[in-house]
Parts: sequence; C-alpha cells; structure tokens
Amino acid sequence: MVIEQQNRHSAARIGEPAGAPVSLSFEGQTVVAYESDTIATALLAAGVRVFTMTEIAGDRRGGFCFVGRCADCLVVVDGQANQRACLTPVRAGMDVRMQRGHGAVEPEVGP
Ligand code: FES
Repeated sequence: MVIEQQNRHSAARIGEPAGAPVSLSFEGQTVVAYESDTIATALLAAGVRVFTMTEIAGDRRGGFCFVGRCADCLVVVDGQANQRACLTPVRAGMDVRMQRGHGAVEPEVGP
C-alpha cells in the first residue's frame, strides 16, 4: 500500500516513448516497453510497483533513487541477480524476475 502511494506519481511517462516497441517478461507476464526504456521505466509504466523484496523482513521495494545509488530496484535478468532496473535498458525477449533478498543463485548440483 505504501509503495503504491510512493510511486503513484512517478509512474507516468513524461513525453512520448522513443524507439520501437519491444516485449519482455516480468515474472512470466509479458510487458510491452520501448527501446528507450529502462527496465524500471517499463515496469512502472506497466503498473508494476514491486521489483524486489528485502532479505530479512521481506519488505517490498519498487525503486527509490532511480539513478543507480540504492538497491531498491534490484531484479534478476536472464538469471543474473543484482541488476539495477533503473539503469538497465530493455531488450526484446529478456526474462526479468523479482529479486528476493540478495538474489543468491542456488549452486548447481552436478553428477
Ligand atoms: S532505484 Fe536506486 S539504484 Fe535503482
């Protein structure tokens, strides 16, 4: 609830989006963005307000500074954790997941 209130006014695009439309997925759902978007821009424009959850308390975060200084927008992109949604440009077909905690990847169990 609080996160939605904090982001309510920052979710609107300013001006027309630039570039061709591209599709990516967030948590398995298709998100249509534009070539000029960052992941954060695309998610906010699509109505997504939570990108990451904190390690211990599980608090929901949806970005704070939007200039790469905090860790409130970390997402997992194509299996790579700790990617800042506010700095990462969108790319067609990218698979974006909400990051939970530090985004540690489970070690592979080999034969
Ligand atoms: S919103 Fe702060 S680093 Fe992305």
